[in-house]
Amino acid sequence: MRRAKIRVGIIGAGRIAGLVHLPSLKLCSEICEVVAVASRREERARAFAGEWGIPRVHNDWQGLLADPEVEAVVICPPSGLTATVARAAVAAKKHILCEKPLGLQYAEARELELAAERGGMVCMVAFTFRFVPALRYLKRLVGEGHFGEIRHWRLSHLTDLMLDPATPMVWRNDRKRAGAGVLADMGSHGIDSARYLLGDIAAVSGANRLYVRERPDPAGGGRVPVDAEDACVFAAEFVNGAIGTFDLNRAVAGRGGSGRANYQSVEIHGSGGAAIYELIHPFELQISLGPAMTRTQQWARAEVPFDLAKYPGSPRNPRMDDPFLGYKWDQEVAFLGAIRGETQDYPTFHDGAEAQKVVDGVETAVRERRWVSL
Ligand SMILES: NC(=O)c1ccc[n+]([C@@H]2O[C@H](COP(=O)([O-])OP(=O)(O)OC[C@H]3O[C@@H](n4cnc5c(N)ncnc54)[C@H](OP(=O)(O)O)[C@@H]3O)[C@@H](O)[C@H]2O)c1
Repeated sequence: MRRAKIRVGIIGAGRIAGLVHLPSLKLCSEICEVVAVASRREERARAFAGEWGIPRVHNDWQGLLADPEVEAVVICPPSGLTATVARAAVAAKKHILCEKPLGLQYAEARELELAAERGGMVCMVAFTFRFVPALRYLKRLVGEGHFGEIRHWRLSHLTDLMLDPATPMVWRNDRKRAGAGVLADMGSHGIDSARYLLGDIAAVSGANRLYVRERPDPAGGGRVPVDAEDACVFAAEFVNGAIGTFDLNRAVAGRGGSGRANYQSVEIHGSGGAAIYELIHPFELQISLGPAMTRTQQWARAEVPFDLAKYPGSPRNPRMDDPFLGYKWDQEVAFLGAIRGETQDYPTFHDGAEAQKVVDGVETAVRERRWVSL
């Protein structure tokens, strides 16, 4: 028997909604339909609905959640609103794909995790880098034990998005609406990648920087103060005994490497070998594994195996899609598959809360200039 399509609503009609979530849902149009959108400004929601062929527009997110036609929601407003909307969506018994960070503090993210557990719906966090083929390959190699005892972790995420002081103030520059600056924004992804590959983090210590203290007011009223930091470094001790570092900066020039703004890399070093993943090479790893290679410091390029080139069951052709974007569209493949009971391989609200626990710990460590146990 043919199954009914999952009816999805989207809250927030900004950059990530148009770049990732709608293309991703359209990719899955065999099994879902997007029935409603809500944004802050109705004209924006109407324009978005027109562009993507969405039949219903709601003036506010509460209206969308009250819509009985909507079974599942994608939540992507500015981060300061995410937890409030997610809390209401859990109460309304919707399946949820929620943008990161799940909350601005661990307490609210943990409350959401527990509410989601009680509710029994699919509650996923959009930790998009879990879908990069090379990162999934690294996860497989870690799981197979090729690195021996994993001793050292290094993550970099560098970009120039906030380099220009003439870039107008956006919600990302405001702690009330964005939380812990680059640490909450790009850092929550990096923390999730670390947990995905190596497991939980036990303790942290770090430092942060804010370079541009005022930015032009987008409403045209001169300059307004900025308080969300653009740089953060932190050291971490993992529960499994590994140690490592995280380098996060969104105001540095020259790093990117593909004509795209984001440079992201992970290094894993162990007693049996090492690997380097770079987002600019989403279909390969650099590896040095086993005595034959490591004794003489040999490195090789290892192509991602065919079965990992896309998420299982994804209708994409990974060789045709934009390599820096296509993997993100597999998020909805996982979300909808989970609703249909076909997969449990996705980042959950537990992962969202655990990432936020680390963010809060780093914030305390930075403020008090000490190590913090988690
Ligand atoms: N997973 C990833 O890789 C990734 C990447 C980028 C962003 N994100 C996350 O996605 C979220 C959105 O980021 P973005 O870059 O798309 O931001 P954005 O371009 O500023 O879009 C935010 C959208 O939310 C709408 N909005 C604001 N207040 C609202 C309200 N009260 N009710 C409903 N909608 C409201 C805005 O509408 P108006 O224009 O009318 O104000 C806008 O359409 C953030 O949490 C961010 O961290 C994740």
